[in-house]
Amino acid sequence: MSQQSNTKQVTNVELLAMKQRGEKIASLTAYDASFAHILDHAGVDMVLVGDSLGMVVQGQASTVPVTVDEMAYHSKIVARGLTRALLVTDMPFMSYSNINAAVTNAAKLMQQGHAQMVKLEGGQKVIECVKHIVDQGIPVCGHLGLLPQSVNQLGGYRVQGTSEAQAQLIIEDAKCLQQAGASAIVLECVPAALAKKITAAVNIPIIGIGAGIACDGQVLVSYDMLDITVGKRPKFSKNFMLEAGNISDAVSAYVNAVKSKQFPAAEHSF
Ligand code: KIV
Repeated sequence: MSQQSNTKQVTNVELLAMKQRGEKIASLTAYDASFAHILDHAGVDMVLVGDSLGMVVQGQASTVPVTVDEMAYHSKIVARGLTRALLVTDMPFMSYSNINAAVTNAAKLMQQGHAQMVKLEGGQKVIECVKHIVDQGIPVCGHLGLLPQSVNQLGGYRVQGTSEAQAQLIIEDAKCLQQAGASAIVLECVPAALAKKITAAVNIPIIGIGAGIACDGQVLVSYDMLDITVGKRPKFSKNFMLEAGNISDAVSAYVNAVKSKQFPAAEHSF
């Protein structure tokens, strides 16, 4: 498998340029320096320190128990493994419940966690937090569709945006996030047709997970695509270890599949 030859640091501006050029953005989660190094070397554009670490690293039932200190720690050690990829770090549950908390915690993830962008879940409900974080010079990635931090309210991990009213709300949320200054949006578990509309409706990159092929990029939980996750792999993920001899080749195969629009296939979409 080919390895990354372009070593220019990926920024929020570059993500935007990739959308404009029609070049797909390949993203994966990482939680430590060694994995981060492998992802960076294989050409992953955006490395996400997801609060999914609560489930896949800590063995918790959801992302809800994850703390800001834990995110800052994992972000800091992931940063040590990166030279090229953009480092995006999740703001965990309740860390942006008001504007002061949001700005303080985003600053902590940047200063202690060496994040280059922070990600938070929600649309219009969190728009004031997004605006205030952006006003401090911190790039923000939104997260729409299935919001894992709200799993207790949603009653489980379900496909979102299936009714016309829900779909309209998500489209409006995406436009509001763009208006508030967000640099990108992760769109999780929505019908592929809706994701296509959202991707066309905004100028900022839409990074899909379970959102079909039309998104500007794709993200997966690395443990899912490397077949490390305990239990059933989500329908939208794929075991890239099946045809690879080692982790580096599996990650390179994922990057190539995203860039060449081979992943996700219809079987990974809703
Ligand atoms: O926490 C995470 O890993 C995420 C991905 C599901 C996008 O937010």
